[in-house]
Amino acid sequence: MLLKTSLAIISALVTVAQAQVPPLNVSGDVAVHDPTLCKDKNGKYFIFSTAPGIAIRTSMDRTSWTFEGTIWPNGAPWTDAYTGQSNGNLWAPECYYTGSEFLVWYAASSMGSQKSAIFLARSSTGAPGSFTNLGLVTSTSTGNNYNAIDPSVFVDNGNWNFALGSFWTGIKYMTLDPSKGKPSNSSVTALARRTAAGGAVEGSTIYKYGNYYYLFTSWDKCCQGTSSTYNIRVGRSSNVNGGYVDKSGVALTSGGGTLVLGSHGNVIGPGGQFVYTDSDGPILVYHYYTPYGSQLGIDHLNFSSGWPVVA
Ligand SMILES: *[C@@H]1O[C@H](CO)[C@@H](O)[C@H](O)[C@H]1NC(C)=O
Ligand SMILES: *[C@@H]1O[C@H](CO)[C@@H](O)[C@H](O)[C@H]1NC(C)=O
Ligand SMILES: *[C@@H]1O[C@H](CO)[C@@H](O)[C@H](O)[C@H]1NC(C)=O
Repeated sequence: MLLKTSLAIISALVTVAQAQVPPLNVSGDVAVHDPTLCKDKNGKYFIFSTAPGIAIRTSMDRTSWTFEGTIWPNGAPWTDAYTGQSNGNLWAPECYYTGSEFLVWYAASSMGSQKSAIFLARSSTGAPGSFTNLGLVTSTSTGNNYNAIDPSVFVDNGNWNFALGSFWTGIKYMTLDPSKGKPSNSSVTALARRTAAGGAVEGSTIYKYGNYYYLFTSWDKCCQGTSSTYNIRVGRSSNVNGGYVDKSGVALTSGGGTLVLGSHGNVIGPGGQFVYTDSDGPILVYHYYTPYGSQLGIDHLNFSSGWPVVA
């Protein structure tokens, strides 16, 4: 009896421990929001994140991070019409390293506005001030049924898949022309939508593991410090451009989404995620809130069950 009770308690503790894996250790300047990660041909890690000019941080070991500067140290006046200010905050970049160049998509908007645009920058080194402005990728204005922020790019067998969106009718899909990094045509289709919580779904990330494509999104409220309720959700599909369902079979276009990571312990409001295949397997890169601001979180993801689990 006593043994049974102890075993039950131990098994409960193990269950809790599995659900509350602490993030991997990170140190140095890790005060990021909406991180995206690239690794160059020398194995150096780069994280780009939300900031005026887009912040650049680097690391040789993925643990210790140094702030390097910004993509646009002299400002980005072409974004002013969308941010409504000079040198405004630029949001939620997406990085793709081609093997010789960094491509970084980033958004310009203001809170709650559909006057939004996604722009593209390119650099061979990733260093502050080394980027070329490749201009506008896509934009929205009042009256569109989606919002052109939170770019996500997933290159698969030479096809460049592009997901974007925040609130309104949710996450949309386009294809990019690989030679330009810009939409191949005007086709825009739906990947995910919530009608609950004011339609709070954004920050999408497409990833492939085994036979499935996975669509990760951030639900609920970002940007409220430790009152943020952001949490990371997922669905999967055999097709990159739609048909995503959650673990219960609910379509992501009908509000489905299986929880991957929510608030736990000192990790409040995890979201703004990115998924990357590193030498030690898939990693989830995200931000969460502490009483001192937002900070970088990195976790291993285990897909062995067919669904990503923070490990
Ligand atoms: C993480 O850092 C803490 C505090 O410095 C240390 O006790 C712990 O062993 C570290 N964990 C790993 C996995 O390196
Ligand atoms: C848009 O371009 C993609 C990629 O070339 C193609 O698969 C898709 O059929 C095109 N859509 C339309 C509506 O032309
Ligand atoms: C992934 O999880 C499974 C099931 O819990 C476990 O057997 C396996 O060792 C894990 N893989 C890694 C790489 O940790």
